[in-house]
This record gives sequence, structure tokens and C-alpha cells, in this order.
Amino acid sequence: LLDGRVVLLTGAVGGIGRRLAIGLAEAGAHCALHYRSRPGDAEELAERVRALGREVVLLQGDLADSAQARAVVDGAVAHFGRCDVLVNNAGAAWRKPFLEVTPDLWRQTFAANVESAFHCTSAVAPHMIRAGGGKVVNVGSIVADLATATLVPYCCAKAAVHMFTKAAAVALAPYKITVNAIAPGVVLTERMQLRMWNPRNRERVLARTPTGTLVRPEDLVGVVIFLASALSDHLTGQIFVVDHGYSLQGLEWEPE
Ligand SMILES: NC(=O)c1ccc[n+]([C@@H]2O[C@H](COP(=O)([O-])OP(=O)(O)OC[C@H]3O[C@@H](n4cnc5c(N)ncnc54)[C@H](OP(=O)(O)O)[C@@H]3O)[C@@H](O)[C@H]2O)c1
Repeated sequence: LLDGRVVLLTGAVGGIGRRLAIGLAEAGAHCALHYRSRPGDAEELAERVRALGREVVLLQGDLADSAQARAVVDGAVAHFGRCDVLVNNAGAAWRKPFLEVTPDLWRQTFAANVESAFHCTSAVAPHMIRAGGGKVVNVGSIVADLATATLVPYCCAKAAVHMFTKAAAVALAPYKITVNAIAPGVVLTERMQLRMWNPRNRERVLARTPTGTLVRPEDLVGVVIFLASALSDHLTGQIFVVDHGYSLQGLEWEPE
């Protein structure tokens, strides 16, 4: 589905990013893989992608900084001559009770999740316009719509990512650039597994999940490939929830 396409994936060495990189490469994409820290992990991931027969370039940068984000995008275009797809996957959450949220934490959360996506999208758009079109896939979250007391800045930042998806979709539609997002539920990355290892957290999530299944990073791959491919050319501004039904549950009641 992505044969020969060039994909720039941000946050590629994270728990979800690593799996997306492999999935995108398996679907045929050449990969510009962005990382911020952990160059050793980035090189290891690049080797795995090369082993699939795809070309790779590694690009380092803090995407909260617009100049560094632009350098990452320009680096991808300089290497491949174009960028067909941007996957804005970089992001971060810090859990804190609301009364402990500082202005710095609020700003840091918006910078990591919203500004990074804005910086990369606005840097890549002119390249895509020159090429006659492109695709942007943002990584939002179900908490954009589920108020969570210990994640107030993150909920608000991901809500902004969802609205950025819709507004940018409208703004970039005349240039044949689609902008869509996925909204994962709780994804069992290695880091999350440590937390879910607490059986009470695991039970709480499973009790609300109608399929009785936790989301794995590989569950996100298919929808991202779809949104990066020509199959989704007719879709823009859409948010695709991937949560095994977690956010669907209504008010369940004991029988009278
Ligand atoms: N895991 C979940 O349950 C879940 C659920 C819904 C949505 N998401 C979203 O999915 C995406 C990936 O999450 P994940 O679970 O894979 O988390 P992760 O393992 O922490 O990976 C996130 C990656 O983003 C990078 N990053 C964060 N802030 C950055 C910045 N300012 N500039 C550049 N890179 C930055 C991190 O770089 P460093 O390695 O340098 O820290 C990291 O590699 C995020 O957008 C997250 O919000 C996750």
C-alpha cells in the first residue's frame, strides 16, 4: 500500500513509534525516522527497517522548538527529495493531580503534543504542496474526549490535536493534503505494561473494554497505513478511535 512512499515518522523510538516504523516499512515505505534522545535505539530501529529493504534516514531534534522541527522536516526532504506522509507521533503525558499542575507543566505538555505537530505540519506543507499533495496523520488520544482528573493538561493538549487535525484538514484541502488522526486508547507499550502490571489498573481498564482486550501497538498499524495510503484519499479531518471499544461504554446498571 505504501510502495516507494516516503514517510516521516516523529517519536519513532517510542513504544508506539517503533511498531509504526516497522509496519510502515513492511507496507513499502522508505522512512525518515525522527528521535529526540536515545540515538542507539534509533540506529537499532533503522537497521531493522533497512533489513526490510527500505531506505532510512535518522533525524534528531526537539520538536517543541520550531527551528529544530523545520530542520528535521528539511532533512527528510533533502535526503529523499520529497516527503509524501508525515506521522506526528511524538508526544508525552505527565500524570499529576490538578492542584499540582504548574504553568511549566501545562506549557511543556502543549509543546510536546500540539506545538510539535503544528511545527512539523507547517514545515512539511510547502514541500507537499510543491509535490501536488500529501498526507498528515496525527496521533491524538481518547482522553481528548474523556475528562481525566490526573491528566488535565494532556486531555486539553490532545483535544487541541484533534481540532488541529480538523482545522488543518480544511486549510490544506485545496492543496490535496489530507489531515487525519488516530485516537488510541490505553496502549500496552513496554512503559505502559509496567503500569498495567498493577493488577488493579489492568482490571479497571479491562472492566470498561467491551472486547475484553487491551490495545497493543500493532493494533494501530493498519489504520495508520490506511491513512498514509491512497485508500484514504477521500477522507480528511477525521479522528479514528482505536481502543477496543473502551470509550463506548454507557451507564451499565445492575438489574433491579
Ligand atoms: N501509550 C499510550 O497508551 C497512548 C495512548 C494514546 C495516545 N498516545 C500517544 O501516542 C504517541 C506515542 O506514545 P508512546 O506511548 O509511544 O510514548 P513514548 O514511548 O514516550 O514515545 C513518545 C516519543 O515522543 C518523543 N517526544 C516527546 N516529546 C518530544 C519533543 N518535544 N520533541 C521530540 N520528540 C518528543 C519521545 O522522545 P524521547 O525518547 O526523547 O522521550 C518519545 O520517543 C504520543 O503522542 C502519545 O501521546 C499514547
